[in-house]
Amino acid sequence: MCVQPAFIIGTNNEDGTYNFAPITWVSITNEKDNDYLLVISMFGTKMTKQNVIRTSKLSVNLVSTDMLELMDYFGTHHAKDGKKDGISYNICRGEVVDVPILDTSRWVYECEVAHSVEIGDSTTFFCKIKNVQVDEKLACDDTFDINLTKLEPVIYSGMYHSIGELLGKIGDFTK
Ligand SMILES: Cc1cc2nc3c(=O)[nH]c(=O)nc-3n(C[C@H](O)[C@H](O)[C@H](O)COP(=O)(O)O)c2cc1C
Repeated sequence: MCVQPAFIIGTNNEDGTYNFAPITWVSITNEKDNDYLLVISMFGTKMTKQNVIRTSKLSVNLVSTDMLELMDYFGTHHAKDGKKDGISYNICRGEVVDVPILDTSRWVYECEVAHSVEIGDSTTFFCKIKNVQVDEKLACDDTFDINLTKLEPVIYSGMYHSIGELLGKIGDFTK
């Protein structure tokens, strides 16, 4: 069991169309100063993984609870079986990286792969964050000061969950 935040990854297909798939093996690391890298692992031969290997570009769209139907659809369909057009959604293009982005996501990273590591059938991508698009209602100066309950993120670990209340910040519980 591993508690995982849910994201939908947007990529460019070889024929110029786009594709989306949920990926929840997502974490973060830091090279230096403010150079954060998203760490994203993909298993097997899925189109999303092939697209990232080929183009080095991806959008990372946070999944809120109102996006569950979309995530479930993208995760139970495979691009190799045809375009995922059995559900309606709006997309735009990245402001900095040329990738498809889900209009409905409240927090979106536009990324380029800086490094990748293969372990067996999985590839882990270390992705430079080139731009972040945040819902206007969440605008903030300090990224450590985000009230996650407003993002209503979906948490996954085999089943889908939502999060509870805001508990406090670092230091609040130290005497
Ligand atoms: C909730 C959820 C989380 C998932 N997380 C991952 C993941 O972290 N890594 C991965 O390789 N596949 C993951 N998958 C599987 C892909 O999303 C799934 O195979 C998808 O159909 C791939 O689409 P594609 O072939 O169009 O790329 C997940 C699926 C679901 C439903």
